[in-house]
Amino acid sequence: MSERTLVLIKPDAVQRGLVGEILARYERKNLTLVAMDLRTIDAAQSDAHYAEHLEKPFYPGLRDFITSGPLVALVLEGDQAIDVVRQMNGATDSRTAAPGSIRGDLSISKSENLVHASDSPESAKRELSLWFPHLA
Ligand code: CMP
Repeated sequence: MSERTLVLIKPDAVQRGLVGEILARYERKNLTLVAMDLRTIDAAQSDAHYAEHLEKPFYPGLRDFITSGPLVALVLEGDQAIDVVRQMNGATDSRTAAPGSIRGDLSISKSENLVHASDSPESAKRELSLWFPHLA
């Protein structure tokens, strides 16, 4: 079933010049690029996006990181795109993410882990309307 998912290529990836490498992987997989935007977000947008993490001890650091510079927000579409993209991204902790995944190949950090993707149809719906309201 065709699905849409929200992907963030995070500030660490932009700063390291990895946008092209990461985007190329999604394109080679034959996912459809529906929307793409380079943005720098503020604390309010971070709080809205990461609503479920607001009370976590790591959240202040995560907010500082995600607002630290430009990121690239994408909407990708394809058959089971939500799970497909999460597999491609790899485990949250890049140190243990499988080789072949974006995090496994390109990062060694749990917090600065290059990419974010929606983790369920419910979060995809919420995140897509938050980041790209005109598509909803
Ligand atoms: P992401 O997929 O964007 O979802 C939540 C983010 O919080 C996650 O990727 C990491 O960047 C970050 N994160 C999750 N767990 C931790 C942790 N224990 N310490 C620091 N950052 C974390």
